[in-house]
Amino acid sequence: MIYHRRPSWHIPEALATDESTFFNRRQLLATMGLGGAASALIAQRAHAATKPGDEYLPTPERNDVYKAGDEREITDEEIASTYNNFYEFGSHKQISKKAQKLDTDNWMVKIDGEVEKDIEIEAADLTAKMPVEERVTRFRCVEAWSMVVPWICYPLAELVKFAKPTNDAKYVRFETFLDPKIARGQKQSWYPWPYVEGMTIKEAMNPVALMVVGVYGKVLPKQYGAPMRLHIPWKYGFKSSKSITRISFTKERPVSFWQEVSKDEYGFWANVNPEVRHPRWSQAEERVLGTTERIPTQKFNGYGEEVAGLYSDTLAKKEGVWLWR
Ligand code: MTE
Repeated sequence: MIYHRRPSWHIPEALATDESTFFNRRQLLATMGLGGAASALIAQRAHAATKPGDEYLPTPERNDVYKAGDEREITDEEIASTYNNFYEFGSHKQISKKAQKLDTDNWMVKIDGEVEKDIEIEAADLTAKMPVEERVTRFRCVEAWSMVVPWICYPLAELVKFAKPTNDAKYVRFETFLDPKIARGQKQSWYPWPYVEGMTIKEAMNPVALMVVGVYGKVLPKQYGAPMRLHIPWKYGFKSSKSITRISFTKERPVSFWQEVSKDEYGFWANVNPEVRHPRWSQAEERVLGTTERIPTQKFNGYGEEVAGLYSDTLAKKEGVWLWR
C-alpha cells in the first residue's frame, strides 16, 4: 500500500528506535540467501510454526505515513508487555503470566451476520490474505495513561472488504473468546462475558483503524490479545478488543461489554477527547508509560486530520459523538 500524504503527526525516522533492528533483520535474511523460493519457507513458518512472542517472519515493512507525532518515543517493550488490561485474566494490570494459558493454536474466527456468505477461517489463514505492515501509533486508555507502540497489523478496511458485507450492514461487532476454565476472570459473573465491542462500518473502513497480529517485531504475545486484536488509535483503548473469535456485521448498533457494565462511563463512540469529562478520570492530560511525563491529550488522540470527517454527518452530530453514548 502506498501513501503519499504526510499528516501532521509524523515522527522523524531517527525516533523510531527499533528501526536498526528492523533493517538488520532484513539484511540478515538477504545474506542468508532467503529470497525467492526460500521466502515461501518463511511464509510457511510465519503461518504455521511461529508462536506468540516469536520473531515475526517475514518482517513487515514499516508504513512511514501513519506515525505517532514528532515528540513521542516508542514505549519500552518491557513496560508495554507487562502493563495490560485483559479482564479475562484479572481486573489488574499484571496479567501477562496468566494470559499465557490462552491456547492460540488453530484459532478459528467466524465472520457472520449481514454478509454475502458466512465464513469460518483460521486466524493465520486470514492474516496470510492481508497486507501486513508495521505502524507506530499512539495508544490512549480512558484511565488516562498512554503509550506509543510499533504494531504489526493490517488495515481493518481490508478485513471488511474480505467479509463482503451486504448493503444492510451498518455496524461491525467484535466478540472475544469465552473459556472460563483458562480465563478465570470470566468466572466473575458480574461482568457480561464475552467481551464485545463495536463500531460503524464507516469507522472500520477508515485507514487509521487496524487489526493487530504482532508487536515490537514479534508475533502478538498472548497478553496483548493474541492471535488478533483491534487497535483503533483515535478511540479510547477499551474499544480495541483482544483475542477475537467472531466478527458480525449488523443492522443494529451492538452493545459493548463496557456499555453494559456502566453506560455513563464507557460510551459507544468513545473518541479520545480532552474536553469531555469522564466521571472518574480527567481526560485533559495523559500519563506517558515509562516516563514521569504528563502531556496534554489531543482530540481524536491526534488523528483528527484523518477521522474527524467521520463525525460530520447529522446522525453523528445528533448522537453527540463527543459524549459517551
Ligand atoms: N479486550 C478484551 N478482550 N478484554 C479486555 O479486558 N481491555 C481493553 C482493551 N481490549 C480488554 C480488551 C482495555 S480497557 C485496554 S486499555 C486495552 O485492551 C489494553 O491493551 P494492552 O493491554 O495491549 O495495552
